[in-house]
Amino acid sequence: MPAELIDGAAIAREIRAEVAREVHRLAQRRIVPGLTVVLVGDDPASAVYVRSKGKATEEAGMRSVTIRLPATASQAELLSCVDALNADPSVHGILVQMPLPKQIDTVAIVRRVRPEKDVDGFHPVNVGKNLIGERDGFVPCTPAGVQELLVRSGVQTRGAECVIVGRSNIVGKPMMALMVQNAAGANATVTVCHSATRDLAAHTRRADILIVAAGRPRMVMGDMIRPGAVVIDVGINRIDDASAKSGYRLVGDVDFESAREVASKITPVPGGVGPMTIALLLRNTARAAEQLA
Ligand code: GUN
Repeated sequence: MPAELIDGAAIAREIRAEVAREVHRLAQRRIVPGLTVVLVGDDPASAVYVRSKGKATEEAGMRSVTIRLPATASQAELLSCVDALNADPSVHGILVQMPLPKQIDTVAIVRRVRPEKDVDGFHPVNVGKNLIGERDGFVPCTPAGVQELLVRSGVQTRGAECVIVGRSNIVGKPMMALMVQNAAGANATVTVCHSATRDLAAHTRRADILIVAAGRPRMVMGDMIRPGAVVIDVGINRIDDASAKSGYRLVGDVDFESAREVASKITPVPGGVGPMTIALLLRNTARAAEQLA
């Protein structure tokens, strides 16, 4: 029997409705959560993400501002932009869209954002809080979204073998920290695989929960998956497709067709993890407003 689909779009709508109710409660205290996104340069994919973040922010009843800086902006200009947002009481969440142009030191920018406004969860203070299981920090939106997908799909995480493919600071590492905690929706035995892992398939075949965030199209095939496993595909890759109007289509890091014959539950691409990232960004922003008030 083919795997059940985990409908990320539907679960994301549920979370966005919860956030909208929270925003309504804050409005009664005259608090309007504000998210400012800073976009440097004109990378088309980033521009699409930033537009959809802005639209979702407004739909949740929050204030959305996008600051666009030219691709030639200096490190000093971006730092002073962040400083101004840190000091602005109407701004509760700050998101500097990545990747940044070459002349800018990304680490220095991430460190400059006030941790209390760091709704991306990238600042070292928030990274540390996530690792030690302190709940008042911000968890990066994509791994937090993956955990919500598991919980809201009724996946048993306690004691599960959870194998993560990919060790990025945005997904793999924070995902590891989340799943290993002694907490609800976690408590798993976690393995992190990466480019130097000797026998990837030997690890992935042991997984009850397989989370793939490697950034390589269809690198995990059905024969690398244990029958009955839950598969979460974080990848989103454009591949050429002459039959598509745009000339390309989106695929994940998992080969969906072969994987769905083996897994018990699987996320599609698109419509799986993607919509969750925005939903969790909105939730982080509402929480930032509540905590800063
Ligand atoms: N670029 C791609 N994903 C993200 C994200 O989650 N946050 C930021 N700031 N930039 C990104």
